[in-house]
Amino acid sequence: MDKEERKPFYITTPIYYPSGKFHLGTAYTTVLADTLKKYKIQRGYDAYMLTGMDEHGQKVETVAKEAGKTPQEHVDEIAEMAKVLWKKMDIQYDDFIRTTEERHTKVVEKIFNKFMESGDIYKGSYEGLYCMPCEAYYTETQLVDGKCPECGREVKLMSEESYFFNMKKYQDRLEKFYEENPDFILPEFRKNELFNNFIKPGLEDLSVTRCTFDWGIKVPKDPKHVVYVWLDALTNYITALGYGSDDDSKFQKYWPAVHLVGKDIIGFHAIYWPIFLMALGIELPKKIYAHGWILMKDGKMSKSKGNVVYPEVLIDRYGLDAVRYYLLRICPYGQDAIFTPEDFVDKFNFDLCNDLGNLLNRTIGMINKYFGGKLEGRPSKKSQLDENFEIDIKAQISEYELNMESFHISNAMESIWALIGKANKYIDETAPWTLFKEGKEEELKSVMYHLVDALKVVGILIRPAMTETSDKIFNQLQLEDEFKDYETMKNFDLVKDVKVIEKGEPIFVRLDAEEEVQFIKDNMK
Ligand code: MSP
Repeated sequence: MDKEERKPFYITTPIYYPSGKFHLGTAYTTVLADTLKKYKIQRGYDAYMLTGMDEHGQKVETVAKEAGKTPQEHVDEIAEMAKVLWKKMDIQYDDFIRTTEERHTKVVEKIFNKFMESGDIYKGSYEGLYCMPCEAYYTETQLVDGKCPECGREVKLMSEESYFFNMKKYQDRLEKFYEENPDFILPEFRKNELFNNFIKPGLEDLSVTRCTFDWGIKVPKDPKHVVYVWLDALTNYITALGYGSDDDSKFQKYWPAVHLVGKDIIGFHAIYWPIFLMALGIELPKKIYAHGWILMKDGKMSKSKGNVVYPEVLIDRYGLDAVRYYLLRICPYGQDAIFTPEDFVDKFNFDLCNDLGNLLNRTIGMINKYFGGKLEGRPSKKSQLDENFEIDIKAQISEYELNMESFHISNAMESIWALIGKANKYIDETAPWTLFKEGKEEELKSVMYHLVDALKVVGILIRPAMTETSDKIFNQLQLEDEFKDYETMKNFDLVKDVKVIEKGEPIFVRLDAEEEVQFIKDNMK
């Protein structure tokens, strides 16, 4: 299909803070977005994926200073590191936006001016309890024993000049939008939480500038103020598409977006962002999906606990697809999950080696043993078991699609593995060794064709998640590229002649559980 005719699909990840090396948790959203993008391409969409870096703010300024670098030097290094990691993880983003780029900063200035002109932003003063050393304001309830929750020192009531965004003005429109678009935020429990606890009680105007640091976009005409980092950051989703620039053709084509975000930043995306867009007169995002977190047994990953898992360590030892599969499988819909080395090794050994690896190996082994590696002349007669198996495959495909379309990615992986399970069961039920012994060549051949079909379907369905493994399956079955086509995969008469390779290398080699669990533990930092 011509690119011009395909329906657009725009998917984004959050833009990441340049706070250090990315861990497995940070890589999570990016793998989700990449997998969904590749799936949409398979389904005929013109899919476009954006990721990037959120490079302004006080923290960046401080971290850079501590490292003896300028903030720009610091963010340049981290952005490079991010790009190397995404390449290693086969993340096929279409654009990588950095909030320090001129294409972004210029438009943020324009947007700020526009909000000033429309009266959405006004100048006022901000009053709060301020901690000098931490350079941060806190509310009464955030204090711990009346002291700063970060460093435990005294706080002081202070006020400073600030610009505010008039959120209150949009309260009714936002509520109405939520009511009219019940699927705007997924999962539903997150939407309810947000709506009942934050929107319904009434929005407060938001302070959108800071005077306490320098590393940010200066307020036009009042440069001692820096634009609040979330107003700066959220607009990346449109500045990257050229909104407000001389060429906004991408914006015209791809907006509105589907945003993937972690549960911790859903509020910014589901309250402030829609309101900024309303104020700009831009259509709201299509959907916002908030995923859960990958946690460790002792809570969040953190360097101070020494429990951080880096994706590179796992990829170098177990291969990219094992890591991508694990990430996609681990978190139930919208929920947190706990990473353990034991679980990682188990999923590798059971799901990848036993279930998938064995199915491919057994199939290739049998085609070699019973048919000298070649299947010719597909029998038109099918047994009841063959027919049931075809129904099962189709049912699993439909289930997988429903899951993918509704962001139930872990369930989508389960749908594929249920199909693999059914294929292994089909072998046991049809007992090809008995058919061979009894000389039932046509029946045996039909079973082999059906196994090739099932593996072909598996190869297509896992493709967005695990392209390398999908390629290996197609290579071992020696099926041409035309058989990778998604839309014709349910046609079981398509594969006519098959010539599999003589001896397929195992696509995943079983791990020694004890040794590997120890390896992963030893490499947590
Ligand atoms: N810069 C902001 C986002 C601005 S988007 C306009 C930010 N950056 S972040 O680097 O702190 O986090 C980026 C994303 O990584 C968030 O969606 C966050 O939920 C996600 N994760 C960070 N640690 C994670 C896990 N341990 N598990 C899953 N996701 C995690 O917030």
